[in-house]
Amino acid sequence: MGLLLALTIPQSNSFAAGRAQASRFTHFGGSASAFGLPLSGIASSPVDLTNFTNGMLNFQEVETLNPADATSGPPGQLGPLFNNTSCAGCHSNPARGGGGLALMEQRLSTGGPPVRIFAVDNMMFGGPLAQGALGQIFTYGQIAPPLGAEIGIPGNVPSACQEVEIARGFSPELPTCIAESANDSGLTGTPTCVAHRQSLPLFGDGLVEATADATFEAIAAAQPSAIQGTVRMVTDLNNFDGPAAEVSQATLSALGTPHVGRFGWKDDFATLVGFSADAYLNEIGITNDLNSQPNTTCAMGVQQYGVTLQTADDPEDTVDATGRADIDRFTDFMRGLQPPPPLPQSAAAQTGQKLFEQIGCNGCHTEAITTAPDPASFLPPTINGTPISTTVNKALANVTYHPYSDFLLHDMGSLGDGVNDDPGITHDERLMRTMPLWGIRMREVFLHDGRATDLPTAIALHDGQGRAAAAAFQALSAEQQQEIVDFLKTL
Ligand code: HEC
Ligand code: HEC
Repeated sequence: MGLLLALTIPQSNSFAAGRAQASRFTHFGGSASAFGLPLSGIASSPVDLTNFTNGMLNFQEVETLNPADATSGPPGQLGPLFNNTSCAGCHSNPARGGGGLALMEQRLSTGGPPVRIFAVDNMMFGGPLAQGALGQIFTYGQIAPPLGAEIGIPGNVPSACQEVEIARGFSPELPTCIAESANDSGLTGTPTCVAHRQSLPLFGDGLVEATADATFEAIAAAQPSAIQGTVRMVTDLNNFDGPAAEVSQATLSALGTPHVGRFGWKDDFATLVGFSADAYLNEIGITNDLNSQPNTTCAMGVQQYGVTLQTADDPEDTVDATGRADIDRFTDFMRGLQPPPPLPQSAAAQTGQKLFEQIGCNGCHTEAITTAPDPASFLPPTINGTPISTTVNKALANVTYHPYSDFLLHDMGSLGDGVNDDPGITHDERLMRTMPLWGIRMREVFLHDGRATDLPTAIALHDGQGRAAAAAFQALSAEQQQEIVDFLKTL
């Protein structure tokens, strides 16, 4: 994450297409209200519940460009390049901490690897755009509020930074890169390609983070070679440009230790604080103790819309009087989110689950994983070195959860995204993390780029290591296929 130019269509309840999407997810049915609650061990501990709630408030806090004469806070913290103004702006379906409603990020490269950050973020389009063989993209495009957000919409003025990025050659007409299993085409071979990304739901991610590396390694080792997953080892200090004096040695050492990547469509991160720091910078434009340098200084001191777009106040997010930085608080919230609550199964759904297992879907979509007995032994402390509380540790320890994912990378052939995040991995452009299926009943479009709008299509598009399972699904009767879909809609 954070490697490519990212453009965004944020959700908007007032947007007609968004409403159409919402009704589609209502049709999936079910208890949206149970999403977004804390794990019971956290709910019953007042201190931890307060941290969770404060984290949630921070997660949904809308960042702004502070006017130069603001009575509190330094001016110009949002951006100057950004994709959205809050975490919740992209993570709120069907509750805070979820995925995007009609959101699709677009990422571009001008060539790579390494694909450089090209953060012309927050290009919001007034409607559908023609995009190579994909036809129209951004069907749910919308007009964004100002503050340097808009490009190419008649009557709108790009921000100082966006003017620079336009001059560097961004064009919405760039060819779309679609990786082919037969060769290395795509972002690695063709400059100026785009790749799309749906935002990911975060429910249950604390349990995923609290799972030992050895558990994921054992899952990979047990998989038959035809579908064997790739373990990607990462450290979450890759972009660390400190040393910011307030990052404790314990934090640096925890984040600098290689662990099994488990977050992001390409397993880019192993920890929630690592992901938060990256997202805070690349999605919202707020520098922080782990990513203290802005992506661009092109708006430094520039006045626009009556505010200073950027000031020399980096890192912007630091440890405050409470002893936590915003990135710690995002982590408190995400770590405490309970998994999506499954629905009761009908007889057809029960049959569907058996079929799901029989045809090998669970080979990658692992049904049950157990967290480590003592997650505190590897979970990073807060930025200033405060370890997770004993009650949070207890809430996360020895929990068996049902993600329907192994969190490993698989060669998905033509379903790959064309992005080579890790030159150390052969054919990384074809590798995708197994998408967890928990909570899938609340999603409206499927696969990393939302190319499927229904479940049978999402299954049919499995290629590469997933092709045999997809073929086995095709070979089922229509009734059996429906039973699998019925099962998925209980998750
Ligand atoms: C502009 C939209 C957008 C905003 C704003 C945003 N995210 Fe995300 N988020 C995404 C997308 C897209 C992904 C998938 C990225 C990928 O892997 O390529 C994602 C993935 C994640 C993941 C990985 C989840 C998993 O299970 O693998 C975490 C954690 C996360 N975001 C946290 C945050 C936090 C914290 C913030 C606020 C600082 C935030 N995000 C702001 C779009 C956004
Ligand atoms: C070889 C591993 C593998 C096997 C086997 C497999 N999947 Fe997947 N599945 C994946 C990966 C990887 C993704 C994410 C692809 C992407 O990034 O677009 C995925 C995505 C999905 C999605 C879309 C999820 C979403 O929210 O976007 C569904 C639905 C799904 N799989 C169902 C199935 C079913 C049903 C089967 C059995 C017929 C199956 N899968 C077999 C690896 C696998």
